[in-house]
Amino acid sequence: MFQGKNFLKEIDFTKDQLLYLIDFAIHLKKLKQQNIAHHYLTDKNIALIFEKTSTRTRAAFTVAAQDLGAHVEFLGPHDIQLGKKESISDTAKVLGAMFDGIEFRGFKQSDVEILAKESGVPVWNGLTDAWHPTQMLADFMTIKEHFGTLQNINLVYVGDGRNNVANSLLVTAAILGVNVTIVSPEALQPTKEIQNLARDLAMKSRSKITIRCDVDAVEKADVIYTDVWVSMGEEDQTKARIKALLPYQINRAMTDKIINKDFVFMHCLPSFHDLNTTVMKEIKWEYNLNELEVTDEIFNSEHSIVFQQSENRMHTIKAVMAATLGNLFIPKV
Ligand code: CP
Ligand code: NVA
Repeated sequence: MFQGKNFLKEIDFTKDQLLYLIDFAIHLKKLKQQNIAHHYLTDKNIALIFEKTSTRTRAAFTVAAQDLGAHVEFLGPHDIQLGKKESISDTAKVLGAMFDGIEFRGFKQSDVEILAKESGVPVWNGLTDAWHPTQMLADFMTIKEHFGTLQNINLVYVGDGRNNVANSLLVTAAILGVNVTIVSPEALQPTKEIQNLARDLAMKSRSKITIRCDVDAVEKADVIYTDVWVSMGEEDQTKARIKALLPYQINRAMTDKIINKDFVFMHCLPSFHDLNTTVMKEIKWEYNLNELEVTDEIFNSEHSIVFQQSENRMHTIKAVMAATLGNLFIPKV
């Protein structure tokens, strides 16, 4: 069903296909926990292209590929000619002739699409400015693990509603039938194009899409989710974002509004919940702030499932690579 396919954006997949990948990842997680080998990609060669930095996505692709029996080569922004001396199209043809699969993290969605078209091998999107599809599989896998179902779940995303993670959450929830609310100031709400796309998908899955400015909208959350206020490549907007988004910080006052006292807190990470530990130290002094999008208290509370979520990046990326490139024979657990 997946062999030879790319994984570029969520809307290329049906609800059943996304659910299959999530369930396959849950299965692969069990195999890993029980030390059962799952070498679906023996001797395959995989290129990891990163134009932007990464901890989770890079580590997840590397460990997942090695668990599957494949070899990986990391190609960072200072390692290859791409974007400086060579076009994406020529790079795709060169790498496609040598590697069996290619991961790409970068700025433009059109770049990952060209790579897929020209390389002739499966290409996996490790984040662009538009979408973060591998993150979505991990997020909805984590929600399914926690609640045992994806039905009747209310996901409320608070913060920058116009970035890759917000776009992806909105459309993926709409495909999967999860109710989703985006809470952002008007200027940072999803574009009309993304909202219309999500509304069309939600009609089919019968999920409810809500876009709000007021933080009272968090009251119905089973899952409260946020992302950084300044995404990679937007650093020049830091001050304006802090000003616009300070009322949207996830803190105790906000979570006290949530009716379901068993709600969970999620974040794709990395997170600015302790500015002392990040490059944002100057912001701490200038604004007298210790935290940005979420307080340390909520980040480290019993509601937080962020590290289960980040571990699941590896299992879900493994499922994507094995399903699109592997010779699938699923052993019994
Ligand atoms: N969530 C995520 O993609 O993290 P990295 O940027 O560390 O890969
Ligand atoms: N929106 C963030 C996600 C990081 C995983 C960014 O693009 O920087």
